Amino acid sequence: MYRVLVTDKVQPEGLEMLKEKGFEVVVDLDAYKPEVLKERIKGFDVLIVRSRTKVTREVIESADKLKVIARAGSGLDNIDLEAAKEKGIKVVNAPDALKNAVAELVIAMMITVARRAHYSYRAMLDGKWEKVMGFEIAGKRLAIIGFGRIGREVAKKAKALGMSVIGYDVFDLSDLAKEIGVEFTQNLEEVIKDADFITLHVPLTPQTRNMINEELINKMKDGVIIINAARGEVMDYKALLEALKSGKVGGAALDVYPEEPPKSEWLRELVAHPNVFATAHIGAQTKEAQKRTSIEIAKRIMEALGVQ
Ligand code: MLT
Repeated sequence: MYRVLVTDKVQPEGLEMLKEKGFEVVVDLDAYKPEVLKERIKGFDVLIVRSRTKVTREVIESADKLKVIARAGSGLDNIDLEAAKEKGIKVVNAPDALKNAVAELVIAMMITVARRAHYSYRAMLDGKWEKVMGFEIAGKRLAIIGFGRIGREVAKKAKALGMSVIGYDVFDLSDLAKEIGVEFTQNLEEVIKDADFITLHVPLTPQTRNMINEELINKMKDGVIIINAARGEVMDYKALLEALKSGKVGGAALDVYPEEPPKSEWLRELVAHPNVFATAHIGAQTKEAQKRTSIEIAKRIMEALGVQ
C-alpha cells in the first residue's frame, strides 16, 4: 500500500480516488514548513503540495521512501527539481486543470484596469462618487509573454473579445498560434513594442527571473498596462513601481508577488498605487479548477506508480 502525505489544501475528489485504489492518504497541513516536513516526510511514497509547501533539497534528501512529488497546480518553482531528479523521484503536475480559471481572471483584470473600475470602487468605499473615464479592450493590442497552455487560453478569449493578439515564447509555437488565429514571435522586443496590454505567463526559472526589467519597460509603449498572474519574480516590481510613478506604465493588475503576502514597505506601496489592481494569488482559485486539479493529480500519481 502506498502512503500519501498532503501538506496543502487540496479538494477531496482526487484524494478519494486514491483511497479507493487502496492508498493511505494523510492530510497534515502543519507539515508545510521545510524544517517540519523533512521529518514528517519519512515513510511516505507520495507528497502532494500546492505552492505554499517548499519542497527543498533538504526535504527531498531526508525522504526515505518518496517516489512521487505531485504539484496540485501548474508552477514547479517551489520544488527542487534537480534534487528530485538525482534521487529518481518523479514530479507530476496538473497544468491543464487551471488554465481556464487563470485566463478568466486575466480578462477580468484587463477590463478592470482599462475601465479603472478598481479606482472607482476604492473611491466608493471612501464615500466618493468617481465617474472615472476608461477605455475599451476591443481593438487594443495584447502581448502574451509565455505561450503555454494558459497563455494560449488567454489568447483565445482575448481574440473573441476583439483584441489583436500576439504571443511570444522561447519555443517556436507559431503553428499553435496559427490554429488560434493570432500572431507569434520569438523576439521579446518585438512582442512588447506596440502592445497596449502585456500579460505574463512564463514559469519561474533561472532564465525568466526578472526577465521583465527596467530596460524592457523603457521599450514599451507609453501608458501600457501590465498583467501578472504568473509569478512575481518574473518581473522587476521595483522598476514597475517607478514606471507607474512616472506614468510610463499606465496601470497594472497583479495577482502574484515576489513575497506572498506582500509585506515589504515598497511592495505595499506598489499594491496600494492608485493605478494598480491587486489580488492575492487567486488565479487558480475556482471550485471548478481545484476539483479538476485534484482529479488530474490523482491520475498522474497512479500513472507514475503504474497503478491501474
Ligand atoms: C499554480 O502554479 O498552480 C498557480 O499559481 C496556483 C497555485 O500556486 O496555487
